[in-house]
Amino acid sequence: MAGLIPQDFIDDLVARADIVDVIGRRVQLKKAGREFKACCPFHDEKTPSFTVSPGKGFYHCFGCGAHGTAVGFLMEFDHMSFVEAIESLAATMGVDVPRNESDRPAQRYDELFDLMGRTEKFWRESLKASDTAIEYVRQRGIDGPTAQRFGIGYAPDGWSNLLDKFGTSNDAIERLLAAGLVIRKDTGRHYDRFRDRLMFPIRDARGRCIGFGGRTLGEGEPKYLNSPETVLFHKGRELYGLWEARQALRQIDRLVVVEGYMDVVALARNGIDFAVATLGTATTDEHLNRLFRLTENVAFCFDGDRAGRQAAWRAMETALPHIREGRQIRFVFLPDGHDPDSYVNELGQQAFVDAVDNGTALSDYLIEELASQVDLETVDGKARLAELVKPLLARVPGGVYRELLMDSLAARVGLSRDRLDRSMVSGAAEKPSPEPKARVRSIAAKGKPSVVRRAITLVLHHPEAGARLDVEKLAGIRKPGVELLERLIETVQSEPNMTTAGLLERWRHDEQGRHLGKLAAVEVPTGDDFDAAAELQECLDQLVVAGRRERVDFLIEKQRLANLSDEEKAELRQLG
Ligand code: UTP
Ligand code: MN
Repeated sequence: MAGLIPQDFIDDLVARADIVDVIGRRVQLKKAGREFKACCPFHDEKTPSFTVSPGKGFYHCFGCGAHGTAVGFLMEFDHMSFVEAIESLAATMGVDVPRNESDRPAQRYDELFDLMGRTEKFWRESLKASDTAIEYVRQRGIDGPTAQRFGIGYAPDGWSNLLDKFGTSNDAIERLLAAGLVIRKDTGRHYDRFRDRLMFPIRDARGRCIGFGGRTLGEGEPKYLNSPETVLFHKGRELYGLWEARQALRQIDRLVVVEGYMDVVALARNGIDFAVATLGTATTDEHLNRLFRLTENVAFCFDGDRAGRQAAWRAMETALPHIREGRQIRFVFLPDGHDPDSYVNELGQQAFVDAVDNGTALSDYLIEELASQVDLETVDGKARLAELVKPLLARVPGGVYRELLMDSLAARVGLSRDRLDRSMVSGAAEKPSPEPKARVRSIAAKGKPSVVRRAITLVLHHPEAGARLDVEKLAGIRKPGVELLERLIETVQSEPNMTTAGLLERWRHDEQGRHLGKLAAVEVPTGDDFDAAAELQECLDQLVVAGRRERVDFLIEKQRLANLSDEEKAELRQLG
């Protein structure tokens, strides 16, 4: 993270930096059309394949693949740290890097926090005044003290409750917009984002409200609407319920990661104070860093359905680099049809604690899951298992744990440790076959990534094209990358001056951002006759259609096995 430098300062700096000037001071650049060219400073070459695009604020070498922003260039070329690069850039542009509370951006943060607090309070009071909302809370098994503890509120129906109350000047409306609480229409008018929803405040490590999740009281779509990415709120970083857990527990012996707001609240209602939830996103490295800073004992609890199994596999992959001696990572699968909320409410506190205690250790989960994909009775199957496990094992830091994992694997495959080691090494010597990787990934990555990828590429190259899209339509589509796409679109909507370079810098420290640099280097048409917004809209439409089709397929398949809930039947009728 950028430490004490405010994000909007970095955004602004990167947007205004002249990358041609920054690189041109160090490398001789030649103009070539809209771009500049040079012999690449990062590898040896005779003909220039190093390209600088002033429009995007981005450089890329077609020879060695080096790429990045002005900040990235300074880090690579001058071997600076991130903060040093920011400082150096600021210095050449003649601005000071703001560092303390009295600077303007920091003040803006204070105002936003304040607004979030007032909004939370307003919604808590509105809950007390709404019989339907109170009835819904009661029917979900949440009692008064628990609702209070989590600050649960109700955003009343209507398009301008917040707007009327807090949007009393243009500045105030801008703040509502920056906080993600209102949406701006094409016409320039505004309306409340959250309407007729039960509201869950999301808090940062200091207990300040930084975002909200809002649930419909009935059938509306999407079921949960979350705050967009804002300067305060970064979904991939936050864990719902963590602050509340730290308040409730003097010492945190363990944490359980669940999928939903309601799960966290229902568990707390039943005396289990150590649950946290990711915010409708996959588990990220940043989540894991935060968790392991607080405890050595982390369990992931997923619904027993297919989506839950996919999420578990992805969480496992993300957790591999975090394995250390002394850390316990477990996976808990509830019976199909249950989530932690329904489970604890039906079977009680002890049953849930038992389920967590009986969770599968990461190593067993990994090995069993892979073993189920091959035929261990055959030599071929054993070899395949060894191959499948190799890329995963490579992500585990060396040491005792990796050795133990190899031992368990050898035992499971029925080979001596020595034979297994040798088969893995010989596998490595052969030409790397892409197949096992694809197979492993297919557990997590169902569906076509290409439309998502194209959409992400478009937003990255033409941030302005994302300005008018209705991202809410993407809610609930669980394809790989969709979440990143949503966050990108939300970012360009809340920061209209965003550039390609700005987006890359925003995602520099984000696990999901790892591949953005490559996509920024892809060639995308730019001319006047290229309508990026229309292309992007088309991608979104395709995603929505595909998402709906997948959902219908899923429901039909589930129906075949004969256990659709009434809610799902209604949904299927409506979709189909
Ligand atoms: P679930 O669909 O599993 O809902 O979403 P749930 O937690 O069981 O909720 P209830 O019991 O029906 O109220 C799990 C999480 O996924 C995200 C939310 O963070 C939710 O808590 N989600 C889900 C969304 O962001 N949007 C949606 O439309 C649905
Ligand atoms: Mn639920």
